[in-house]
Amino acid sequence: MITSFILASALALLPTQVLASNNGLAITPQMGWNTWNKYGCNIDEQLILDAAKAIVSSGLKDYGYNYVVIDDCWQKNERENNKTLLPDPTKFPRGMKPLVDDIHAMGLKVGIYSSAGTLTCGGHIASLGYEEIDAKTWASWGMDYLKYDNCYNQGQSGTAKLSYDRYNVMSQALNKTGRPILYSLCNWGEDGPWNFASTIGNSWRLSGDIYDNFNRPDPACPCETYDCLLPGFRCSVMNIINKSVAVAQKARSGGWNDMDMLEVGNGGMTHEEYRLHYTMWAALKSPLLLGNDVTNMTAQTKEIIMNDEVIAVNQDSSYSPAVRMWVKGDQQMFSGSLANNTQVVILLNAGDNETKMTATWDDIWFYSLPNVDSSKSIEVRDLWQKKNLGKFSHQITLDVPAHGVRMVKFMGSAQSS
Ligand code: GLA
Repeated sequence: MITSFILASALALLPTQVLASNNGLAITPQMGWNTWNKYGCNIDEQLILDAAKAIVSSGLKDYGYNYVVIDDCWQKNERENNKTLLPDPTKFPRGMKPLVDDIHAMGLKVGIYSSAGTLTCGGHIASLGYEEIDAKTWASWGMDYLKYDNCYNQGQSGTAKLSYDRYNVMSQALNKTGRPILYSLCNWGEDGPWNFASTIGNSWRLSGDIYDNFNRPDPACPCETYDCLLPGFRCSVMNIINKSVAVAQKARSGGWNDMDMLEVGNGGMTHEEYRLHYTMWAALKSPLLLGNDVTNMTAQTKEIIMNDEVIAVNQDSSYSPAVRMWVKGDQQMFSGSLANNTQVVILLNAGDNETKMTATWDDIWFYSLPNVDSSKSIEVRDLWQKKNLGKFSHQITLDVPAHGVRMVKFMGSAQSS
């Protein structure tokens, strides 16, 4: 009797949120750097070591960017004894373990890439059917992270069950190694990973590959909505945002919607566009994986990726992604709750001209209606200007640049009860 009472009380105290894949990783969205967006297949040990050193010396590490992820094209195209994966000996002459050890010695973690198919998207040997062997190999090298792609999947997709089963084999294999390895699914939103991946992985891609462009329509990325069947590639930032908003609320601590690696600093967008890009990835709680040359960054690039107040929104302990509250033509308004009764609000202008945008207290605290006190006066801080704008009540109106955002934090709540 007493025992069952104690047990029931203990159970009541357990957090209601069950962590994705129960590996205890990605409590907040993972942050780091990935080789693919800037370098594609042109990678080798030196390039990765130089990037890792720059992540430390530039201060990026102190902002939370701690995973160095080696994307596709690291493999030798032949398994040792038909079993063990090997790195390409010309690119990684020392093998993988010494490189991983060097990066660990810098206080960083390391990630690797493969595909839940017979080949990777770059045509290299992949892991379907070799899950346990490969997971063990990566664990023996000291890997902390796996990005797991979807190419050459032998038709084992098309239903959530097929995709779940295929990705689950690797999830189990990673867990079996006993090493905590963050599991980042990359199936481009196919079969709705937001509905099946949260129990097996720490993040899942939502779309076809990002392209370093703000809003260019591209025939290679035909889908405008999340439930379209052709993820494609060369997807613009606005295309990915418009797909992601529909499933934003599926993100949770330990399992995040991945909007793809960042393009900030790669040259295809203006400063305002990059700011918008980074703002939305941060607010929708996407992993923040840099995709630029971190050994050579402009002051403008650093200003974006080293804004501690914006990063704090992404890493906030409320774990709540911002929600799109309305769309009016080119204008969109987002609101998201943060810890300590504070709130992030984003006014996004995808149009070609600067414009004034207004958000009312009912827009911002829509989910608290009817208990919203519009007369409540609240201090507002601009997170890009890094300054307080003063106190506002009822509504806020701000000038929003073309292809840009205003991202503000409300230092209190208008909830009346
Ligand atoms: C796919 C992924 C990309 C990248 C490449 C590598 O396209 O979506 O992020 O990993 O494969 O070939």
